[in-house]
Amino acid sequence: MTAELTARRFTAPLPADMTRDWLPSSPAVAAALDTYSVLVPANEAFYMRTINASLPLIADPALRKAAETFIHQEAEHGVAHKRYWQTLDRQGYRFRGFERAVDRLTFRTVERIAPLSIRLSMVSCVEHINAYMGHEFLSQRILADAHPEVRALLEWHFAEEIEHKTVSFDILQAVAPSYAIRLLGLVLSAPLFYLVLTLGMLHFLAQNRRLWRPTTWGRLLHHLGGGHHMLWRTLKHLRAYARPSFHPSQLDDAALAEAVIARYSSSDADWLTPAKRGKPSPQVPMAA
Ligand SMILES: [Fe+2]
Ligand SMILES: [Fe+2]
Repeated sequence: MTAELTARRFTAPLPADMTRDWLPSSPAVAAALDTYSVLVPANEAFYMRTINASLPLIADPALRKAAETFIHQEAEHGVAHKRYWQTLDRQGYRFRGFERAVDRLTFRTVERIAPLSIRLSMVSCVEHINAYMGHEFLSQRILADAHPEVRALLEWHFAEEIEHKTVSFDILQAVAPSYAIRLLGLVLSAPLFYLVLTLGMLHFLAQNRRLWRPTTWGRLLHHLGGGHHMLWRTLKHLRAYARPSFHPSQLDDAALAEAVIARYSSSDADWLTPAKRGKPSPQVPMAA
């Protein structure tokens, strides 16, 4: 059972003069997260179309309400990350061709050829990935040395991924409860997610002239290995999803999300406001 969800608007002004090195501890992780920001709008739009198509099949009114707020939260994520594109533009990055190619070759293609049950299973799997990324980045404070507003953008998004992590899984269980369909979603989505993230990371690092620097790879190894153990932890979370008895609520990290939402709703950094239902979020101008 999902706790009551709230859709929020991210209002922090993203500085126009920010350097590309917004995460000094790891250029490769910064490049991977810039890729994440580039892919969020199309990715979230795919979730929204899929969950929208599932709404008439959901009998439980509480789950249907959670699904509607889920859609609203994802819409706000798309708006906020698209605003960050202006920062990437000012930093001189080229990424729109990559973004269009990924949208056409993955989301649009899947939508054309796969039935709703498979699309829903893929959404459920990527939502699990979003939630465990959020868990790891928040619990290990991986963004502690990041630029404050970019850190806030990502941590707010990760916190809401934790908040709504049961929704698409519960919809999948309600609409297509087959374990084989869940496993198929995992097999199709997880390798594709990490392939696209890696290609985008290399694309950003090449433009940043960081691709051939030994420190880039040394720090990435630290992130994946002995530092944050992300390779092992990723495999552990994916293996958990493959267990027949898995449910996202088995990892109780609601307090992590609550702490982040409280931090960015405080008087020091009042960057979140409740988003009004049915009202598209206006673009917040960039800081001078
Ligand atoms: Fe999201
Ligand atoms: Fe999500």
